[in-house]
Amino acid sequence: MGSMTRNRNTYPSNTPTPSATQYYTSRARDGAGLIVAEGTFICPTGSEWLHCPMMTSPLHAQAWAPIVSSVHSVGGTIYFQPWHEGRAQNDLAPALKETGYPVLAPSAVPAKAGKYRFLAGSPGHTANITAMSSAQILETVGQYRDSCSLARDAGFDGVEIIAQGGYLVHNFLSTRSNIRTDAYGGSVANRCAFLLEVVEAIATVYPVSHIGVKIAPCDNVADIACSYAELSETYAYLVRELVRRKIGFVNLSRRGCESGEANDDFSDATRRPEGMELPRGYDPLEEFGPLVKFEGSETKLMVNYGYTVEEAEALVQRGRVDLVSFGRPFICNPDLVERVRNRIPLASNDRGGSVNYGPYKSVDENYNDWPMAT
Ligand SMILES: Cc1cc2nc3c(=O)[nH]c(=O)nc-3n(C[C@H](O)[C@H](O)[C@H](O)COP(=O)(O)O)c2cc1C
Repeated sequence: MGSMTRNRNTYPSNTPTPSATQYYTSRARDGAGLIVAEGTFICPTGSEWLHCPMMTSPLHAQAWAPIVSSVHSVGGTIYFQPWHEGRAQNDLAPALKETGYPVLAPSAVPAKAGKYRFLAGSPGHTANITAMSSAQILETVGQYRDSCSLARDAGFDGVEIIAQGGYLVHNFLSTRSNIRTDAYGGSVANRCAFLLEVVEAIATVYPVSHIGVKIAPCDNVADIACSYAELSETYAYLVRELVRRKIGFVNLSRRGCESGEANDDFSDATRRPEGMELPRGYDPLEEFGPLVKFEGSETKLMVNYGYTVEEAEALVQRGRVDLVSFGRPFICNPDLVERVRNRIPLASNDRGGSVNYGPYKSVDENYNDWPMAT
């Protein structure tokens, strides 16, 4: 089960509620092999999602512990996803107005995108970006480590680092958001350095075999798309470096390879900017899959984005991938695994896009009220 922000934590303490225990445990009890919990902030954030969790204090770890323990009690495995939104934030968000925490990103290059339900009009992501100093980079890498250390205290089994979506790690990878001229910008190796330092920092907390990295080379959200030549070179290098470090898995998303139109309420994919078109029918699995999945590799290959059960089954059977993660289908199919086992068609979401992040009257609405078929 892929990591999914559902925006149902308390605010301003940003802790999960017992509803999250029910939500995750039901998917684990049903047989979800690996659950990656929703993206969880490692520092104050100017987020669109006020009701996302944070992992910055022992109180957060204590709030997650019963959820993790409940998942374990039914035989499940649950990973933590540390999250920093980088330039995809707005400093007018309540949390940043209160804390005065800056919007940190590799360079002060605003993203031409973004809407915030608490801001009138459409001012988009902030123009007020602080280009990170070396000290701030070091501090942020430390925040990744510290939040993972709290996650370990809460009992999480491992970590998936989000390196896509136009958020901080992705901001370092792409020349669209990274125009630094120091050791973190310019060459492919320099742009990948931040992520590799984050991996190394988290590897002081979790075994490297329990760390995964989620990438979307073709991503076209939050103004992050890059040219085909750049993505090809950057991700070939990155994937090789991750596999060389023997991380547990690379989770490869094919988001951004669609024909160009938004395909639902979740994906805000628009046509790729001029000069950044992909080869016709391009699928990153063809190019990067073999760099992860080869004889002797200790890193598993996971894929995601819009896979059907049939497609997933065929890819696994043909040995092209080790794992396929499902996101949206898990929202409205609490018994997704049993349905697959029993060849029962998956339910589709007939309630619209607001099921994702709200608004909702009670936390359980569109969260713990989906019918089971098994
Ligand atoms: C409501 C919603 C919230 C999401 N939040 C996150 C997130 O916090 N972290 C993340 O890595 N991916 C997030 N995703 C992406 C999913 O993990 C998954 O990669 C994506 O939905 C593609 O899989 P699918 O086509 O099976 O839904 C989210 C997706 C949805 C629908």
